[in-house]
Amino acid sequence: MTQPPSETPAHVAVIMDGNGRWAKERGLPRIEGHRRGVRAVRETVTAARESGVRYLTLFGFSTENWRRPEDEVAELMGLLRRYLKSEIAELHSNGVQLRVIGNREKLPTDIVKLIEDSEGWTAENHSLTLILALSYGGRHEIADAARRIAKSATLGLINPDAVDEDVFAAHLDTAGIPDPDLLIRTSGETRISNFLLWQMAYTEFFFIDKKWPDFCKDDFQNALSEFKRRDRRYGASASKA
Ligand code: IPE
Ligand code: IPE
Ligand code: MG
Repeated sequence: MTQPPSETPAHVAVIMDGNGRWAKERGLPRIEGHRRGVRAVRETVTAARESGVRYLTLFGFSTENWRRPEDEVAELMGLLRRYLKSEIAELHSNGVQLRVIGNREKLPTDIVKLIEDSEGWTAENHSLTLILALSYGGRHEIADAARRIAKSATLGLINPDAVDEDVFAAHLDTAGIPDPDLLIRTSGETRISNFLLWQMAYTEFFFIDKKWPDFCKDDFQNALSEFKRRDRRYGASASKA
């Protein structure tokens, strides 16, 4: 495989937002916006793969989204079920590895099974790692890691003095995945909404007014171009004088 140019972000994370407003503007039910959002998912996965991005994380459902009306949650789970069933063969043939982060215990059991099968099937693929954040919340993930570290310390498996940033990161759902270089959020909202809180310490943010169902390859490319113009200093002095 050809190496991406050095300034292509290795990891792009996306908050796919605005499906409901997209539908409302058109006098359609919210679910219609979510349905159209699946097209944008397909297009973004292809754009990421073609651009040499190695990791793409899509925020599909947050821990807070369980508070939505029961029928909307059921419809979103239905779309997720259909997506996993219908796309996995093509993802696999394109060399995409699927990983899911988040609190699976809350997901319907048949979806958990689909996730496990899909992860197992694609585990050896290396063109792009597609990470779906489902029932995911940054604070939940951090609290979960802290609890597991504390338990290991109680059992004498970890020395509390040895718990540093690397040890902590290794206990997160994203263990082994580099931090996102670029975050894209659609729909004009400019907040993080409990996404990848630990991992986004030095991520570049790109906000676009378009709502998720209208997001396309060109928008993805524009975000990558903007990323290349950013000067990532990590607290040091300016490097692009
Ligand atoms: C994003 O669109 C999809 C999910 C959060 C599941 P929204 O459903 O949040 O749409 P808006 O923000 O209400 O327009
Ligand atoms: C964030 O969008 C979660 C997902 C895109 C899955 P929300 O629509 O839930 O976020 P808020 O409520 O506007 O912050
Ligand atoms: Mg929203």
